[in-house]
Amino acid sequence: MRTVRVNASRAYDVVIGEGLLSEAGERISSVSACKKAVIVSDDNVFAIYGRALIESLEKRGISCTRFVFPHGEMSKNLSVYGELLEYMCQMRLTRQDAVVALGGGVTGDLAGFAASTYQRGTGFIQLPTSLLAAVDSSVGGKTALDLNGGKNQVGSFYQPMLVLCDLNTLKTLPSDEYTNGCAEVIKYAMIGSEEMFNRLDETPVSAQYEDIIGECVAMKRDYVEKDERDTGVRAFLNFGHSFGHSFELLSGYSIPHGRAVAMGMAAIARAAVRLGVCEGEALDRLIALLDKYSLPVRADFDPKDVARACLSDKKAAQDGIRLIVPERIGTCRVQKVPSDEIIVWAEAGLKS
Ligand SMILES: NC(=O)c1ccc[n+]([C@@H]2O[C@H](COP(=O)([O-])OP(=O)(O)OC[C@H]3O[C@@H](n4cnc5c(N)ncnc54)[C@H](O)[C@@H]3O)[C@@H](O)[C@H]2O)c1
Ligand SMILES: [Zn+2]
Repeated sequence: MRTVRVNASRAYDVVIGEGLLSEAGERISSVSACKKAVIVSDDNVFAIYGRALIESLEKRGISCTRFVFPHGEMSKNLSVYGELLEYMCQMRLTRQDAVVALGGGVTGDLAGFAASTYQRGTGFIQLPTSLLAAVDSSVGGKTALDLNGGKNQVGSFYQPMLVLCDLNTLKTLPSDEYTNGCAEVIKYAMIGSEEMFNRLDETPVSAQYEDIIGECVAMKRDYVEKDERDTGVRAFLNFGHSFGHSFELLSGYSIPHGRAVAMGMAAIARAAVRLGVCEGEALDRLIALLDKYSLPVRADFDPKDVARACLSDKKAAQDGIRLIVPERIGTCRVQKVPSDEIIVWAEAGLKS
């Protein structure tokens, strides 16, 4: 069991270990005086873990109701959000009560945005059950919904009161979802730890969940504490994402996020080597590690389309973008790239 304390605008613990689902009632009671909880979960996850969570909360006198929605990104929209708010209101949830997100990143983003806006903010607890949610979306306070016009276009910064990551839940994660989560883990190693990179190479993530998730959360915590609202150093977490988001967009979202990030990391590293910023050996090692985790390393898109898509990203500024560029394993730098030069990076990253 390990605990990472996050000193953001609201301070909270991220607890990582086995068996936390059955301790949830006790642990939530220690940070919240809630009498009621609305458990938000998708149909897959609720079917497996819903009952255990409700039992644990009710043992502590927290009365539970549930809002279960169809799994998948398609549910992260205004209409499901509206239904959730109406449900919370019907249940007469108050600001002292809590919304408990049990699931992956979709659940956390939807529940978090509802918690942040219902009565201008009610209690919010995260129980991440996917690897991606454990290492990324459950920590740091970003919440979001998709609009027809784009992913994550509505949202808020709203820190949870507690994050409980029960490693036992990862045992039922589908292997495709595991692979996607591993791309984000490799991202952390690339931006901050060659030593972790070496360990990922020697031992699969799934055989060292507690250590790896703990280290990724601690790294994310450090960025969030310095730059909660993402105007500076938090941008490092975007490594592989500028190109990655373009690949998702250009594929009509048929390429899953983790795989797109893997392709994005390989492309930016390839460009960095060709443009003389990164050691060639680092690229070879990154490609070999992505390959070991069954992640794709090639993207078959027109560099012009990729450059255009990069500029449409919500992180792009009027005068260009800030690319996170590797120098070697464990070290990246921010490269300001003017709009008309993105094509140079896209071509260098995509040509064979
Ligand atoms: N807020 C943030 O900082 C942040 C960061 C990164 C990603 N995100 C968001 O996270 C979302 C992606 O998250 P995700 O990959 O977890 O997707 P997800 O929540 O859709 O989960 C993926 C799939 O795995 C299933 N699943 C989850 N846990 C399971 C378990 N333990 N056992 C069996 N099945 C399980 C789900 O039902 C779903 O079908 C995206 O919407 C993305 O925008 C947010
Ligand atoms: Zn990501």
